[in-house]
Amino acid sequence: MTDSTKDRVVIFDTTLRDGEQSPGATMTHEEKLEIAELLDDMGVDIIEAGFPIASEGDFAAVSQIAQRSKNSVICGLARAQLPDIDRCWEAVKHAAQPRIHTFIGTSPLHRAIPNLTQDEMADRIHETVSHARNLCDNVQWSPMDATRTEWDYLARVCEIAIKAGATTINIPDTVGYTAPRESADLIRRLIAEVPGGTDVVWATHCHNDLGMATANSLAAVEAGARQIECTINGLGERAGNTALEEVVMALKVRGDIMPFDTSIDTRKIMHISRRVATVSGFAVQFNKAIVGKNAFAHESGIHQDGMLKNAETFEIMRPEDVGLAGTSLPLGKHSGRAALRAKLRDLGVDVGDNQLKDIFVRFKELADRKKEVFDEDILALVTAATEDAADRLQVVSLRVICGTGGPAEAVLEMEVDGKELTATCEGDGPVDATFKAIRAVHPNMAKLQLYQVNAVTEGTDAQATVSVRLEEDGMIATGQSANTDTVVASAKAYVNALNRLLVRRDKAGPGADAREVSYKDVS
Ligand code: KIV
Ligand code: ZN
Repeated sequence: MTDSTKDRVVIFDTTLRDGEQSPGATMTHEEKLEIAELLDDMGVDIIEAGFPIASEGDFAAVSQIAQRSKNSVICGLARAQLPDIDRCWEAVKHAAQPRIHTFIGTSPLHRAIPNLTQDEMADRIHETVSHARNLCDNVQWSPMDATRTEWDYLARVCEIAIKAGATTINIPDTVGYTAPRESADLIRRLIAEVPGGTDVVWATHCHNDLGMATANSLAAVEAGARQIECTINGLGERAGNTALEEVVMALKVRGDIMPFDTSIDTRKIMHISRRVATVSGFAVQFNKAIVGKNAFAHESGIHQDGMLKNAETFEIMRPEDVGLAGTSLPLGKHSGRAALRAKLRDLGVDVGDNQLKDIFVRFKELADRKKEVFDEDILALVTAATEDAADRLQVVSLRVICGTGGPAEAVLEMEVDGKELTATCEGDGPVDATFKAIRAVHPNMAKLQLYQVNAVTEGTDAQATVSVRLEEDGMIATGQSANTDTVVASAKAYVNALNRLLVRRDKAGPGADAREVSYKDVS
């Protein structure tokens, strides 16, 4: 099926109304304008910009969004009351394409709130929809809690709204109660049985209380609905609304079985998702479909290997299609050698098979201690692997006791020219005790010129990179090491610098010039 033969589904975004209405998701005026602009830019057909009667702030946001809109229809929400509708019209009337959306709860539970009989409510619907239509050519009407409204009454009020001039009839599953087959049956029956039903657009508005909002919306579309109401990241009351990114990508990816087109530029999805998460304060869960941090990330060795050979093995959409730079293959304890080699290649590090084996062992040790291994961690491992080769001094084990009850104590085991030696020393803190232990195992006159600690990656499981500069007889050597344990990194950096000094001394012979030798200078 070509795009021109596909049915078009209108995307109605209510992030700024139903989304913003969810507890804690309030946005500032400026943030609402920014999100509206992004929605307009990404091709959203209709933006529900707010509920103008709710507050002065809502009114101001809707009216300014209406004035700034470029391509989208700008819609405001109004209860079934004449002053609400007038206020809504005042806010949206500046838009090139305005819409009034008016609603009333039609289920028995909702009818009880204003205490209206069925007939009284029917009259109210006729009056308010007619009033809205006299103000605006584009009127949407919603029977709130439609999925729990008696069929006969629902059909009756939909007919009244159509006769009063509504151009779109929206069927809300206000409490997320329906299921896909029921959602489809309801829409199909309304279109077929409500007089005038084929002259209006039918919309679906689902909430996610049972996790079925996307499935219910798509089922409604298959049954004839041609407008999906949704929000970015599924933001919305309680468990949220249908997520825009999910329905849009489902229609794009499964066009073979759901031949419907939308006007959304899907490459703009990630950006707006991040902005909505930031301004609403509602972070996106890692495993959220389409926009979650892990939606295009693969850590297990088998998956990474498959992805490196052919992305389609584990991905049904291209990350670029939702605005990501590419797939992410985060390195962690499940990653295999192929992924490590690919990462090293990406980082511009060329290693032979033996060196890869060595780095892989170190990487697995680190990954066991750390949730995610970052690029900087890998580079630090490469450095460590390169340095340790042929070192005369090696740290075998280190145990440090420290705290408030007395001086720190370090128990160190080292290999010096193939011999295992141990020392236990006290010091002013764990690093001082450790350095004293190193000097006890390998007595030397080197002076500590610099000791510097940097956290290479973020979080409490970050790798610390420690730099140590030693000076002996005018000869200087710098050593570095990285470890999630700062004291271990310090010990290894110190020993590293000592090794450099030994190499330097051997190479230079007696009377050589003083100059700095860093680990990079030593081949
Ligand atoms: O969920 C709902 O019923 C609504 C209506 C106002 C359309 O958001
Ligand atoms: Zn809703």
